[in-house]
Amino acid sequence: MKRIITYGTFDLFHEGHYNMLKRAKAEGDYLIVGVTGDRYDVGRGKLSVKDSLATRIENVKKTGFADMIITEEYLGQKISDIIKYDIDTFVIGDDWRGKFDHLNNYCTVKYISRTEGISSTKIREEEFKINRIGIITDKMSDNQIVKESGLIAGVSVGKVYAEDGTLAGKFNNNYQLQGVAGNLRELFEDSDVIYIRVDIKDRYRFAKEALQAGKHVICDFPFSLDSGEQKELWNIAREKERILLDNIKAPYSQTFIQMMWAVQGGLIGDVIDFNCSVSKKDLDIPYLFYELAAMAVAPMLKILGHDYTSMDSRLIHEGDAIEFATMYFEYPTGRAKINVGNTIRVENQIEIIGTKGTVRIGDNWWKADYFEMDKTDGTNEVFNINFNSNGFRFLLANLVDMISQGIIETKFFSERDSRKVTAILEEAIANRE
Ligand code: CTP
Repeated sequence: MKRIITYGTFDLFHEGHYNMLKRAKAEGDYLIVGVTGDRYDVGRGKLSVKDSLATRIENVKKTGFADMIITEEYLGQKISDIIKYDIDTFVIGDDWRGKFDHLNNYCTVKYISRTEGISSTKIREEEFKINRIGIITDKMSDNQIVKESGLIAGVSVGKVYAEDGTLAGKFNNNYQLQGVAGNLRELFEDSDVIYIRVDIKDRYRFAKEALQAGKHVICDFPFSLDSGEQKELWNIAREKERILLDNIKAPYSQTFIQMMWAVQGGLIGDVIDFNCSVSKKDLDIPYLFYELAAMAVAPMLKILGHDYTSMDSRLIHEGDAIEFATMYFEYPTGRAKINVGNTIRVENQIEIIGTKGTVRIGDNWWKADYFEMDKTDGTNEVFNINFNSNGFRFLLANLVDMISQGIIETKFFSERDSRKVTAILEEAIANRE
């Protein structure tokens, strides 16, 4: 009996998929179809898949060509499958020509011509609304929004606006955008979503204008250091039924969410000690102290909650320039310490110590793709999601889901979380000696 195997995502099942499965089956007597698991797709950065794994499997099953359906869960699985299922021929579309030649060591590899003019990507582009993102900036770095939005179905970057017209021109050329908007009105007319990437002192006014113009807003974090201004923005967003998102990546990242789940699920017992440090030295963009501090406080609020019983802070500063800050929070079962190094360097990490173990994310924890867990029973594990991105991709994927479902509040990092961070910063600044 000749055994064949083929793989695919099979999202938004189409004629090309049907033809491929039919031809794969005709190559032999028994066909195994590997459907990519959700986690595998996330791991390779494919966040645009619309159908659930169950639907994709069901659609493959309905063709009647597959004798067995398996899921593809990790890189390198194909070799194990070929050996395990004693495969004679591996079949795949010729868009992959050459990419699987190494499997010739295990079985015959056959590339089959694709059905012309159709793909899941094309259907996604046609059927799902593309939300255009307009950018308001005052700097050349784009925080990778251009690259990351290119990888998410449902968003594309449109025009750029900057008060400095020369900068806008350069930005447009550098990132090959759709042009410079001469004024805010032009930008708003061209966009569904506005990304605000300006100094903290200007964020409030741009965010306010964009929301009032009925646009969804992603704004660098924090929006403002004034809780009154911040509250006003949230109120406008609610009134206009528009999404207002803090551009904070960690709470959207799969690594962070998995770590939060482990801690809140009791895997390391009760939290005794929470440490989060961040240092400007390791960031490629000139963050201000407040942005660093906000970034470091947010994970604590997500993991330990808002109900600390006391807070204490110490800010080392030269005039207005804050060089280092340490903040302590007492929680009912333990304490949290946040270190922020502006000119003074600190090691970037999150370390959470519990009664039954410790979890840790090292360098660049806001975009890390793994975390470690050491348990008091002597076991240690590394949880890896194999995903390299600065986190914008998850935030944008969430934005697209929210827009398509008509939801305006995100649970990843809510209004309550956002406002609490500002309140903490306000208090720390007020307490400075
Ligand atoms: N395929 C095909 N003809 C098409 C589209 C896909 O023969 N028009 C084949 C692919 O070569 C692959 C299998 O179907 O062997 C599963 O492909 P998949 O990547 O799931 O489908 P695409 O439509 O190519 O998806 P995407 O646009 O997301 O890459």
